Amino acid sequence: MKTQFVIFGITGDLSKRKLLPALAAIAKSGKLKKTSIIGVSRRSIDIEALLNETFDDDEVSKDNLRERLSGLEMDVALPEDYTALKKHLWLDQKDSQVIFYLSVPPQASVPIVEKLGEAGINTANVKILLEKPFGVDLASAQENIGRDHAHFEESQLYRIDHYLAKEMAQNIMIFRRGNALFSQVWNNQFIESIDVIASEKIGIEGRAQFYEQTGALRDVLQGHLMQLASLILLDLPHEFSWDDAARLRTQALQEVSLADPAKSVRAQYDSYEKEVANSGSQTETFAAVTLSSNDPRWRDVPIHLITGKALAEKTTHITIRFKKQRDAQANTLTFNIQPHEGVSLELIAKKSGYERELETRQLHFDYTQNAQLPDAYEQVLLDAMTSNKNLFASSEEVLRSWEILQPIQHAWSMQHAELLSYPKGSTIASILEP
Ligand code: BG6
Repeated sequence: MKTQFVIFGITGDLSKRKLLPALAAIAKSGKLKKTSIIGVSRRSIDIEALLNETFDDDEVSKDNLRERLSGLEMDVALPEDYTALKKHLWLDQKDSQVIFYLSVPPQASVPIVEKLGEAGINTANVKILLEKPFGVDLASAQENIGRDHAHFEESQLYRIDHYLAKEMAQNIMIFRRGNALFSQVWNNQFIESIDVIASEKIGIEGRAQFYEQTGALRDVLQGHLMQLASLILLDLPHEFSWDDAARLRTQALQEVSLADPAKSVRAQYDSYEKEVANSGSQTETFAAVTLSSNDPRWRDVPIHLITGKALAEKTTHITIRFKKQRDAQANTLTFNIQPHEGVSLELIAKKSGYERELETRQLHFDYTQNAQLPDAYEQVLLDAMTSNKNLFASSEEVLRSWEILQPIQHAWSMQHAELLSYPKGSTIASILEP
């Protein structure tokens, strides 16, 4: 099928860091045949300069994209510019599709979707790739999704949560399904707790305006961490098809209780106010929330979701802590989402030597030792091209995540929870147990 990618905001940061490199990598793999890319921007685009800024001296990537890439100047606020855009699109051509990628600030995305629809750029062969955040709370997400649905079917909307497309996140369901040893103990009879953690070393990296309006709860916890948690909680049916993945994740979230603000912690790193030039800012750069599920399989199992910026290490992982049985130690199973993608299992073993002493040892499998992992964005773009929606967040999932977190958002906005302060480079433990 012929594909036209139309990227709004092609000269922006996300486009240069993620999109264009992902498209170049897909082109390299030979899967970008019959594809053209139109970069939309307010000012005229110097394609050669854009390629140089994105790829430095990587001539192969530049060559892979150069011949497919063209620029189009347009003002996204003007309806007549959409009429002009329409003339360039393969809307009525057989065996073709047009994929829009909106790499624009969150508040700009819904008006663009509406204007595309109003200009008649919403034929059945049009798809729209949307970036988070999808709203800032339940009410705004409902409104945005309603406005999108006024012009496009849900099947045409691809809501990206790049965490779902990470190699190890995809592996969770495969692991659960393929290993009877674990699938049989995947419930509250054997599992003590679930930790879903995304810790970042970087701060806000110059994104002051975005971050001030967002904070850690909305930026990472509401989407990325809730999605990862749902992959652990979902009920895997005997007959599993990837096409059911979004429905199963949603079902798992439906069972999660509304969050209890008393089981939440928010904090801000010490130089944040200065970085955003807003003394007294109440935006959290660290958020920890403990959730629970009403599903009988998970009753009484705390689900800890924790994320933060400017912490001691960069790691995203999920740790399943198994219950202690009699005098044995508790085992833990960890999905290392990044870096060092893999799985590790903590076991108790005899320490070698004359004494009968015990020690904790790790069984470890590391993906990166024997494979070059595709970037999550490559997966996302390829899946959108082939109409494979199971690694995208559905509207229902997005709404349910906001709904679960609403009590915390409310409490935090009313300053009902103390905003702790932590030095850059802190560990999670030092923030939670000062
Ligand atoms: C994005 C957030 O969604 O995810 C960023 O907006 C965050 O603040 C990023 O840094 C983390 O993604 P990754 O893939 O580097 O873990």
